[in-house]
Amino acid sequence: MQAYIIDFVNLLLRWLHVIAAIAWIGESIYFVMLDNSLRSPKAAEDREKGVFGEMWSVHGGGFYHNQKYATAPAKLPNDLHWSFWKAYTTWLSGFALFVILYMVNPGFYLVNPNSPWQWAANLTGWQANILALAFLLGGWVVYNELCKRISPNMDRDGLLSVAVAVMMIVVAYLSTQMFTGRAAFLLTGAVMATAMSANVFFWIIPGQRRMVNAMKAGDAPNPLDGKRGKQRSVHNTYFTLPVVLLMVSNHYSFIYSHELAWVVMVLFIFAGALIRQFFVLMHAGKTRPAYPAFGVGLILLAFWVAAPSASSTSGDTDAQGPDQAQITGLIEQHCVQCHARNPEHAGFSAPPAGFAFDSWDEILGQKTQIQQVVASQYMPLGNMTNMSDEERDIIAAWEE
Ligand code: HEC
Repeated sequence: MQAYIIDFVNLLLRWLHVIAAIAWIGESIYFVMLDNSLRSPKAAEDREKGVFGEMWSVHGGGFYHNQKYATAPAKLPNDLHWSFWKAYTTWLSGFALFVILYMVNPGFYLVNPNSPWQWAANLTGWQANILALAFLLGGWVVYNELCKRISPNMDRDGLLSVAVAVMMIVVAYLSTQMFTGRAAFLLTGAVMATAMSANVFFWIIPGQRRMVNAMKAGDAPNPLDGKRGKQRSVHNTYFTLPVVLLMVSNHYSFIYSHELAWVVMVLFIFAGALIRQFFVLMHAGKTRPAYPAFGVGLILLAFWVAAPSASSTSGDTDAQGPDQAQITGLIEQHCVQCHARNPEHAGFSAPPAGFAFDSWDEILGQKTQIQQVVASQYMPLGNMTNMSDEERDIIAAWEE
């Protein structure tokens, strides 16, 4: 019953998380598009009012005319629309999901028994939980310090972008060494997503409040507040595509269970940012197909890096492959505790990921997936059932 309740809560949280994220990212992409699509106002009276750019659009059967002021209109309306709850809801629901999916069972989901670092392979569940939280918090602190130290007045944003890119390579590397592959991808995505939400919470919204308060008091707003809000929201836009990829990656073990998973992750992060760059420039009237072409090149490189190596998919050519009894024996010994219609393992109320190996037909029907997850060492989860390398080789040599 307890496992069922956790699964149900998980479903509801995931639903909320995806909806909030769609609303947030949708709005954020819309405003970046709007900002880049602004053209000088045609009417002289608009220019006199201080309008700096405008965009005409048609949507849902109506015509819209957006205007952006160079600084602010002479008088602010009282019903100004603010955007922040979508960002906070996305982060809060995502964090809650992380807690129930990973932190309730850290021994399986976080601790990486194959870590090249002995201390990381030997972490207890609690230590792994604390390390994961420190990793998220540390990611934000480092990112925020980079912004404050490198480009405090927003005049060295180019250099800052390079520094943030290097930081993400380090984050990808460290996460895959310390945590299981699946958790590493999620945590790297969460480092970016946390920076995005914290940018809204600590800089963008407070900056906007200071600007509004100054205007209400009849003072000129500090232009640095506006520029900083813009700097952070530009970062957010480049984080968006990579974060979405990393969040959905947990269904695709081939990308995170590879030895060079951190390289694959870095390639995807840069590919996402480059593809985003194309759209940002396109709205500003510049078509630069080289960006997405380069992005697709990185994805092809990732395809090549993550491809299963020949040695892990074919066994000895002249030796007789393992027979049904041998395979069934290994699956019973190492997998069915969890992967059965009624799993013995108390953590599961149903077969994890929908994979049940109760009969030979089911085992045979899922041969490809079984071989893939066993060769990549993703399964048995956390090598809980101590599968040896020789046993893995037997699964790899199985040919029907
Ligand atoms: C301790 C429990 C446990 C054991 C033992 C275990 N698994 Fe899993 N398995 C899981 C969980 C949990 C998931 C879901 C994780 C996920 O969503 O990626 C999973 C997912 C899978 C998947 C789907 C992976 C994907 O791409 O989403 C396959 C295939 C699989 N296991 C096969 C196996 C095989 C084969 C064995 C034995 C060699 C095994 N598992 C042993 C818990 C276990």
